[in-house]
Formats: sequence, structure tokens, C-alpha cells
Amino acid sequence: EARRKIVAGNWKMNKTVPEALALVRELRGLVSALGDKVELVIAPPFVALHPVAKAIEDSNLKLAAQNCHWEASGAFTGEVAAPMLKEVGCAYVIVGHSERRQFFGETDETVNKRSQAVLKAGMVPIICVGETLAEREANRTLEVVERQVKGALAGFSAADVARFVLAYEPVWAIGTGRTATSAQAQEVHAAIRSQLARLYDGAAAGQVRIQYGGSVKPDNAAELLGQPDVDGALVGGASLKAGDFAAIVKAGA
Ligand code: G3H
Repeated sequence: EARRKIVAGNWKMNKTVPEALALVRELRGLVSALGDKVELVIAPPFVALHPVAKAIEDSNLKLAAQNCHWEASGAFTGEVAAPMLKEVGCAYVIVGHSERRQFFGETDETVNKRSQAVLKAGMVPIICVGETLAEREANRTLEVVERQVKGALAGFSAADVARFVLAYEPVWAIGTGRTATSAQAQEVHAAIRSQLARLYDGAAAGQVRIQYGGSVKPDNAAELLGQPDVDGALVGGASLKAGDFAAIVKAGA
């Protein structure tokens, strides 16, 4: 069975609640005709999750959070727990985004703990991996990405992993306008899938969806999403404009 493409918009630290509602209302209309041909996910900032959840009721848009803590509750000032996200209507949580690894001390181990919390709360993690420019130039791309994948997935069963979404985001392509070529993306996606076949089994590896992220735009989306192991996109900047995000989604349909 073919993997259904999944396109997610990571709004990062953008959009107030009124701005989020305006964006989502416009987007809803632009993508409604697509039905469930492509799985559509948006990840607004925490404060907008609840109002946006109401605004996407009975639509083909699903909700994701951009991060969560690994404990279910407790004295962790400033953090948000996975069960809280589930309760407001999140289906997915982005885990281990490179900005969290770079600026907030995220490690393979904490990515793993957060992913476990997401699954336990009844949601699916979108686990981000990707090499820096220095790592790519040192020919360490696959080594780095495989270490991140192995670390993130430690302790999960093949059945768990089969449902997960991975996002390959080369750090040098994020927000830079510098996209990986479709061949560069395909090479890493295929390497991740064969790693999963080794770590788990062929069935799980065949079911996992692997998104590409890093300067995905309407004009490069069709080429990237046309690669055999590219199962969707994790879109940052271009997801802040309803027309651009809808165009990217249509390229994947
Ligand atoms: O999560 C999204 C990625 O970091 C890509 O961001 O599309 O702005 O390059 P970008």
C-alpha cells in the first residue's frame, strides 16, 4: 500500500491568536477540495492551539504542537505536557527540531523521551533529524542522521515506528532559501529507510513516512515530493502564507 503524503506547516514562533485564526480560515478554504488525498497538518504556537483547533473542526486540517515535555505533569515551570496537547486536539507533536537542538539543548536522548511521551498520550511524533553544513562538508551526513534516528527511536517497537513520521531537515537548508536538491534529499531518505529495515523490519520501514524540510516553496515542492522516498514536507516560512502552503500541498497531491 502506498504511503499517504503528509505535509505539515511549522509556524515556529509566528502568529498571534487573531493572526493564526485569519491564516487558518483562509487556508481551510484553499485546501478543502483536496479532501484526504494528502494528510494536512499545521503546527501553530502553543497559545494558538486551542482556538485553532476550534477553527479547523470538520476540516481536513490536523493539529500539531511544536514541542512538549516528557513528563505528564509536575513542577516544570514553563513547559507543556503531552496529555495537555492531546486534550486540546493535537494529533502530532514535532520533536527534535534542529532549532531546539541548536538553541535549547535538545539531545538524541531527550528527543527519545519526548517521543515516548507523545506516543503514550495517544499522538504521533514528527521526529526531526538533519546534518549541519560542517557535517555535510565533512562527508558525515549519513553518520549523523543515522545516529539521530537510532537515538530517537531507541526502545520503540516496529509497530510503533511504522506509525511515526520522520522529517529530514538539513540544517543548512532551513530558512536559508538553500534547498537540498531532490537527489540529495532522496539519498538521505533512502538511507534512513534502509536503516529502519535493518533496525526493525521491512514492513515498518515501508510504512514510515519521511518528510523533507528546508526551504520548501511552491516552485520546488513538486520536484522534491516526486522522489520515491520523500513522503511529504515540513514547511516553515512558506506555511505562513495560505496561498503558498496550499500550493505546496497541491504539489504533493
Ligand atoms: O520545520 C520547518 C523547517 O525548519 C523548514 O523551515 O521552510 O523556513 O526553511 P523553512
